[in-house]
Amino acid sequence: MTPTRSHRMSHGIRAGLALLAFALAVPSRPAASQTRSAVGCELCHGELELLRAQTGSLTRAERLFATAAQVRGSAHAGMDCAECHTGFGRYPHATRAATRSCGSCHEAAAALWAEGVHADSTTSRQASCSSCHDIHDVMGAEARQTDAGAGRLNAHCTVCHESSHLPTTNPHYQKVLCTACHAQHDTKRVDDLAARVAPANQFGTCRACHEEDVAGWPSDVHGSALLSGRSVTTADGHAPPACTSCHGSHDMVARTDPDFKHAVLERCSTCHEHEAESYLETYHGQASALGSKIVATCSACHGSHDILPASNEVSSIAPRNRIDTCGNCHPQARASFVEYDSHPDPGNRDRSAILYWVFLFMNILLIGVFGVFGVHTMLWWVRLVGGHKESAAENGGHHG
Ligand code: HEC
Ligand code: HEC
Ligand code: HEC
Ligand code: HEC
Ligand code: HEC
Ligand code: HEC
Ligand code: HEC
Ligand code: HEC
Ligand code: HEC
Ligand code: HEC
Ligand code: HEC
Repeated sequence: MTPTRSHRMSHGIRAGLALLAFALAVPSRPAASQTRSAVGCELCHGELELLRAQTGSLTRAERLFATAAQVRGSAHAGMDCAECHTGFGRYPHATRAATRSCGSCHEAAAALWAEGVHADSTTSRQASCSSCHDIHDVMGAEARQTDAGAGRLNAHCTVCHESSHLPTTNPHYQKVLCTACHAQHDTKRVDDLAARVAPANQFGTCRACHEEDVAGWPSDVHGSALLSGRSVTTADGHAPPACTSCHGSHDMVARTDPDFKHAVLERCSTCHEHEAESYLETYHGQASALGSKIVATCSACHGSHDILPASNEVSSIAPRNRIDTCGNCHPQARASFVEYDSHPDPGNRDRSAILYWVFLFMNILLIGVFGVFGVHTMLWWVRLVGGHKESAAENGGHHG
């Protein structure tokens, strides 16, 4: 639709013709045929060169460029220019001519928008309706639901939020709208408790698309604490995790990603430092640290959305369920095998007396051995230095 040079050369004639045609095409009565009005408007608004000649500015002309085809391919297909632009039936346009605001027809959306962060007029880049929707090629629901439509809408967000592109490794990349997580109109700051991504609201936000995956969340030790607003913390003062505490937010990866297990392990470890340390003492922990992808990480034993304390008898780590849990990977697992301590703590005598005494004995032995050797080495050193001084004194005597 880019105008060519031939347009420029004939713009004077075309402008004249357009004005004449317009006068003929647009009747004075507003009830006139809608399509004829659009055709009339397009005589000038569909001709970039003409608009440029008339206004003396290409930028202004580009803003004024509007065609019936754009509107036809949009959510407003079937609507006439004059439904939104009233009083433009003559040229030069009347001073009373006015454009209806989007919100005058979409009151509900406008009311929600007014509550969100994008209506905040104190920021320099307030996002108006057309910052996200465009003006004449507004996409309808069907277009937005295609991957291409989602990509096009999301590209509007990243014009202003340049650093918030989803990485290609994020499972949502170009599959969902940014607003599926952030709300389209009443978008809140992410640290606002009313935001859809706030910890207590994530279950509702994510469940819209992952209902089956998170069916166990309301009874999960973390989920139940979050949903009930019960204030529990780990011994080190960490609050319970929301979905993105384990999965990451924009840096989320799919289960098939080679980094998935390790990323989750790292996140469990930030809150359960003590258990993470003891895990690293075990066969599983050491093999995992060396890069094994098949040994057990936290969630292999504890689950993911159905984690429960050992004292709960349906927990995967309840004593009576351990044969099943370990048996997933150790088919030979028997009662004696699952007594293996997954979180050895040599400093805790109540937990494992044998480990405690062995550890204590080894430490005493170690201290004893180093102590004896230490004293021995010191005496040796004193003797060496003494011997050296003696011989130095002897040598000095010869020269002086
Ligand atoms: C003869 C050419 C011509 C026709 C036909 C025409 N316009 Fe315009 N219109 C212009 C030009 C040129 C401007 C730029 C401002 C100006 O010079 O008045 C303009 C401006 C506008 C504006 C912007 C007003 C503003 O203040 O920013 C709107 C909206 C508009 N036209 C809508 C329409 C509609 C709707 C129709 C059809 C019913 C129409 N125009 C028909 C030439 C035309
Ligand atoms: C669903 C409503 C709607 C329809 C239909 C519509 N417009 Fe618009 N138009 C708008 C809105 C809203 C704006 C933005 C006004 C603003 O930015 O202040 C606009 C802007 C414009 C402008 C630029 C005004 C400026 O100063 O930037 C022109 C020219 C225009 N429209 C012409 C048309 C023409 C010609 C048609 C028919 C082919 C049409 N419009 C159909 C709602 C509509
Ligand atoms: C004159 C009234 C009117 C104006 C002004 C208007 N619209 Fe619409 N809009 C409609 C109608 C009618 C529909 C089609 C029916 C529907 O889906 O609600 C529609 C549909 C839509 C849809 C698709 C609705 C959906 O369910 O997906 C969006 C998005 C939209 N408009 C956005 C805008 C934006 C943005 C503006 C301003 C640039 C605007 N509208 C201006 C009347 C209007
Ligand atoms: C920050 C970007 C953004 C802004 C600003 C914005 N919208 Fe939307 N709007 C969206 C997105 C994205 C959707 C689609 C949501 C979906 O399909 O799940 C949408 C959907 C809509 C719909 C379809 C029905 C609905 O509510 O979901 C209408 C109508 C609409 N917007 C009108 C408006 C109006 C009017 C304004 C200005 C007052 C506005 N929008 C401002 C992004 C925005
Ligand atoms: C699956 C849900 C999800 C999707 C999809 C998503 N986000 Fe986010 N986004 C979040 C979460 C959760 C946070 C909070 C991050 C945190 O606290 O670390 C966030 C934070 C943000 C922030 C504020 C922090 C910052 O980076 O400045 C912006 C802006 C943002 N997202 C924009 C976007 C845009 C733009 C898109 C689409 C390209 C998008 N988001 C897609 C979940 C999502
Ligand atoms: C015209 C620019 C613009 C567009 C387009 C835009 N935003 Fe924003 N957005 C802002 C501004 C300005 C803020 C307020 C941020 C600030 O003050 O730091 C904001 C804030 C946000 C926040 C809260 C950020 C935080 O720090 O907590 C999120 C989330 C967000 N926008 C998401 C979106 C999404 C999703 C889209 C697309 C549907 C979008 N934005 C489109 C300008 C824009
Ligand atoms: C305590 C950490 C943790 C929390 C919190 C968490 N997840 Fe997960 N999630 C995981 C792990 C680990 C897996 C992999 C499970 C597997 O491979 O069997 C997973 C898998 C998934 C999957 C892939 C499908 C599936 O069920 O295996 C989705 C989708 C998912 N989680 C969404 C969520 C949502 C939504 C929430 C919040 C309601 C959430 N997760 C909270 C750890 C967590
Ligand atoms: C609009 C729907 C939608 C919303 C809302 C949504 N997701 Fe997703 N999610 C998807 C789609 C689509 C995929 C890709 C599925 C695929 O590739 O099979 C996905 C994939 C995932 C995966 C990877 C699953 C796997 O098998 O590896 C995780 C984890 C996930 N989402 C978590 C979340 C979390 C956490 C939230 C909320 C903050 C959320 N999602 C919100 C649609 C959504
Ligand atoms: C954001 C911090 C956080 C993250 C991340 C986290 N947890 Fe927790 N976890 C908690 C809190 C808080 C509790 C509740 C403590 C309580 O009730 O005493 C808890 C409870 C538990 C319990 C029950 C223990 C008890 O004392 O009740 C287990 C088991 C557990 N988490 C395992 C995990 C695993 C496995 C992961 C990773 C897949 C994980 N957690 C990720 C904070 C976290
Ligand atoms: C090989 C299986 C296994 C692995 C791997 C594992 N755990 Fe455990 N975990 C258990 C068992 C069994 C218990 C219960 C007995 C105990 O306290 O040692 C337990 C206990 C816990 C508890 C206390 C639960 C309670 O009810 O008191 C937390 C918290 C915990 N593990 C977190 C983690 C974290 C975080 C990781 C990863 C760094 C992890 N676990 C790795 C098997 C495992
Ligand atoms: C995700 C799979 C997985 C789960 C679940 C798992 N392990 Fe392992 N474990 C491994 C792998 C792989 C090895 C190293 C290969 C081997 O020796 O079988 C290993 C090694 C071990 C070893 C040392 C080597 C050996 O075979 O004697 C012990 C002991 C052990 N696991 C105990 C347990 C116990 C107890 C549980 C349940 C609380 C458990 N494991 C759960 C995968 C797992």
